[in-house]
Amino acid sequence: MKNEIYIGDNLKVMNNPKFQKYNDKIKMIYIDPPYNTKSKKCYQDKSTSLEWKDFIEKRLEISKKFLRQDGVIFISIDDNEYANLRIICDKVFGIDNFVGTFITKQAQRSNAKHINIVHEYILCFAKNKKKLPKFVINRMEIKEEKKMINKLNLEVKKVIKNEGLEIANKKIKGIIKDYCDNYNINWLKNYSNVDENGKIYFSVDLSTPGKPRSVDIPEIGLKLKPLKTRGWSSDNRFITLYNENRLCFKDGRPYAKHYLEESEDNVPSILNFFSRQGTNDLKKLGLTNLFDTPKPVEMLKFLIRIGTKKDDIVLDFFAGSGTLAEAVYEVNKEDKRNIKYVLIQLDEEVNKKSEVYKACQKFGILPRVDAILKFRIETYLKKHKKEIDFEIHNLN
Ligand SMILES: C[S@@+](CC[C@H](N)C(=O)[O-])C[C@H]1O[C@@H](n2cnc3c(N)ncnc32)[C@H](O)[C@@H]1O
Repeated sequence: MKNEIYIGDNLKVMNNPKFQKYNDKIKMIYIDPPYNTKSKKCYQDKSTSLEWKDFIEKRLEISKKFLRQDGVIFISIDDNEYANLRIICDKVFGIDNFVGTFITKQAQRSNAKHINIVHEYILCFAKNKKKLPKFVINRMEIKEEKKMINKLNLEVKKVIKNEGLEIANKKIKGIIKDYCDNYNINWLKNYSNVDENGKIYFSVDLSTPGKPRSVDIPEIGLKLKPLKTRGWSSDNRFITLYNENRLCFKDGRPYAKHYLEESEDNVPSILNFFSRQGTNDLKKLGLTNLFDTPKPVEMLKFLIRIGTKKDDIVLDFFAGSGTLAEAVYEVNKEDKRNIKYVLIQLDEEVNKKSEVYKACQKFGILPRVDAILKFRIETYLKKHKKEIDFEIHNLN
């Protein structure tokens, strides 16, 4: 399947027979609808609350059928319509399928009279929460943790270089304890070994609850006596670990190496993404001012990573400048995945008084959001020397 871009009103597109091939096929939907803030944008963002509610409910209602049973929807929103959106989602997806709300940073400051509002939200619902896999994130994807892990790695590498691996293995417990105390964390405490490549790991016990058994796997030279009250992991597990060079021994007892760099965590509810990063992402492509409110690519990469697996399909039916597409390309490249995107965008005229209108003229494209979307993705692909790999369907 190719990536696909549908041009037209999303309600019409999602009702179109051509689109029905996505029934039960989408693993993750991300949308960033107009927030109804009444502020000036390059696209329409003004309606009454009643109109907005009706508009969004109709679209969420139909979008639900495209989600797989283990699917998830993320919706960006701010204070204006958060409460209404939550009620609508409770109704459409069911209260039991409410997963949570992320808070993201929006700006350094607002001009509000009372509270300096610097955040917005991502509301998250499951199609069926019982079937939605756990959200986990590699700690190296979390800025602060990555910084700490890199610092720790450097410190340990220094000890290895100056004093050797044996001493490093003796000293590491103390180093880790200092980090746990200084950063006020507990999860790090078991990562108290260093291997011959200087990688820090945690030794995972390979006994299992169950009947004691002996192990004899001549091909990897492993012989183990039965334990008193517990069994051992399967032969297959031992063989895989051996082949991956993850089997290690302490006092003759086998353990699996779990590397610090692979450490994962549940996702936190407060995310460190600034909306403004999205504007910088466009600048990086040389597309300054081509859209008013692009979301940060990193934020969408984060959502893709927690909401999908290897070769899932993701949908954004308020695509705007197509940030989701860029995030999909990046995740595919970095994680060796094969995720496909489906985008829907109205052929909306850009507000003539906006900077975006001027930017469209500068880049020689039609002053319409669907043209901006197409141009942004093409520019990204060109920059990365990739072929055009999407199909466009005009359903307006
Ligand atoms: C907040 S923007 C999305 C920005 C996007 N997340 C990005 O990073 O560029 C909302 C978009 O929804 C589009 N839109 C509004 N009504 C729509 C509709 N009925 N069907 C399809 N798109 C619509 C607007 O044209 C606008 O581009």
